[in-house]
Amino acid sequence: MQINISSTKSYYEITHERGALSKVAKIVDLDRKVMIVTDSGVPEEYAQTLSKQCKEAHIFCFERGEQSKNIDNFLLILKEMLKASFTRKDLVIALGGGVAGDMGAFAASCYMRGIDFVNIPTTVLSMVDSSIGGKTAVDFEGVKNVVGSFFQPKAVIEDFDLLKSLDKRQISAGLTEAIKMAATCDKELFEFIEKSNDLDKDLEEIIIRANAIKKMVVEEDPTEKGLRKVLNFGHTIGHAIESKHNGELLHGECVALGMTLLCSEKVKPRIVKVLEKYNLPTLINDNMEELSEIMKHDKKAKKGNISVVYCPEIGSYEFKDMTIDEITKLK
Ligand code: GLY
Repeated sequence: MQINISSTKSYYEITHERGALSKVAKIVDLDRKVMIVTDSGVPEEYAQTLSKQCKEAHIFCFERGEQSKNIDNFLLILKEMLKASFTRKDLVIALGGGVAGDMGAFAASCYMRGIDFVNIPTTVLSMVDSSIGGKTAVDFEGVKNVVGSFFQPKAVIEDFDLLKSLDKRQISAGLTEAIKMAATCDKELFEFIEKSNDLDKDLEEIIIRANAIKKMVVEEDPTEKGLRKVLNFGHTIGHAIESKHNGELLHGECVALGMTLLCSEKVKPRIVKVLEKYNLPTLINDNMEELSEIMKHDKKAKKGNISVVYCPEIGSYEFKDMTIDEITKLK
């Protein structure tokens, strides 16, 4: 699958191939210095398999979890690259989930005004969504993704064999992003996820079909001026829940909760049913006033109003501006 971002003249390939991790050198030039950004949750042998293929590999391994997506770790990556005399010709590879991808890409986008970046996602969430489309960021002062840039990777390599180390909870949390895309943009994919009774068998197809949606969206709107906002379905409330629970709930679990409040009466039971099928949470126990307070700091908040994505019918979406008061009353 090839992504063409014409405004930035970025064309990159998403490779979907079991076993691709051991063949990265055939896809990307590794005959240079490579900074591998990974986390403690990723099996060590993945980084070893990759580093063996590089001329000079450096591994930056941070503690797994959203709390690591911070300026301190971002600076540590840059320091390591500077200490090892990385030049503009060298490369950063993220090998992990959304945190490794966002932070590794942000470091690549800033080092010497931008060096090559490749994403090798190891989670369902990052394969489905975050590895594609060039969003980079770290969290700052308690606000998620508030410091970052748009910076397209040179390649995305999706090796489905890497998913075997994930537990069921992480797989389900990642699946939320595919459910989000299907609910708003692809009725057939939503029905496929609804009907699936063997996720092990169907996961690959779900990821590839979700990638096709993401490709369509980011090619049309790489910097989120319009259409790309659709990918925020469930995220406005989801991010607030995530901030409040500070790492206790996974990102996908928070997005699942967020989706249940921003859909029509007709759509809600279908979304809830599909989320429950994958053991995802569907009932918000937090005080909505408290969540609204957090939402005011969201990038999507403008002049006291919050932009949200609403799903009136499966396979369609509306953008709405809601007041804090309206959000507080959502049920
Ligand atoms: N994860 C949402 C986006 O890439 O826009």
